[in-house]
Amino acid sequence: MTFAPPTPRTVLVTGGNRGIGLAIAEEFLALGHRVAVTARSGQGPEGSLTVTADVTDAASLDAAFSEVEAAYGPVEVVVANAGITRDLLLVRMTEEDFTDVIDTNLTGAFRVVKRASKGMMKARFGRIILVSSVVGLLGSSGQINYSASKSGLIGLARSVTRELGSRGITANVVAPGFIESDMTSVLPEETQAAYKKSIPAGRFSTPSEVAKVITWLASDDAAYISGAVIPVDGGLGMGH
Ligand SMILES: NC(=O)c1ccc[n+]([C@@H]2O[C@H](COP(=O)([O-])OP(=O)(O)OC[C@H]3O[C@@H](n4cnc5c(N)ncnc54)[C@H](OP(=O)(O)O)[C@@H]3O)[C@@H](O)[C@H]2O)c1
Repeated sequence: MTFAPPTPRTVLVTGGNRGIGLAIAEEFLALGHRVAVTARSGQGPEGSLTVTADVTDAASLDAAFSEVEAAYGPVEVVVANAGITRDLLLVRMTEEDFTDVIDTNLTGAFRVVKRASKGMMKARFGRIILVSSVVGLLGSSGQINYSASKSGLIGLARSVTRELGSRGITANVVAPGFIESDMTSVLPEETQAAYKKSIPAGRFSTPSEVAKVITWLASDDAAYISGAVIPVDGGLGMGH
């Protein structure tokens, strides 16, 4: 069996200054790609280009894409990773708590995909990867806003697949389970222990394990995978 070296691509990762986004950017860099990250604060990993953008602001995203295109050429791989939580039980969740999370996690991904699709359609090549969550499939008490936003990404990716699939563009969803990051370290100890008990793998994952699946989805080997939801959850979401 022979292994071809990966085709170097221009990659943009949103929220690449920390957590899972940082690991995704590092993994693409290690494979020899041209990597840019968006950040509201801080920097992407050494060797990447950091551009400022807020995914709730289409104009800032447009400027960020233009900056990346000027430096590295059209964006060929985009990873919509930026996301937030605002966990509250339904009785306490305000409409603003709901719409703010949707605006970042779902409408934010729409803005990123819409801007990225321009260059991808022209090039007749593109890899769109949306970072969802196991709770988008399972639901989660206290996360009605978050799980709704993460389920929405599946409809987004599948509809993009139907619209743009014939132009060499794939759109896939990665659904991580519990990953060691700032987002999960704020959970109370007892909650973390209860979650670990329910995960068949018996442990949380690392950002790097998610990143490796994403770089593979962007690779030439995954050209015929589109509209898929790939779990990286140690079996937590099985059957959903
Ligand atoms: N950790 C988990 O267990 C887990 C599980 C399933 C799915 N996920 C998903 O994985 C993704 C990354 O999560 P993480 O654990 O790495 O979270 P994190 O450590 O909290 O990092 C979130 C990233 O998103 C960025 N971001 C948030 N709002 C933004 C906005 N309006 N515009 C631009 N960037 C924004 C943050 O930028 P700043 O630094 O500027 O705030 C940061 O870079 C999220 O979509 C999350 O829902 C995480």
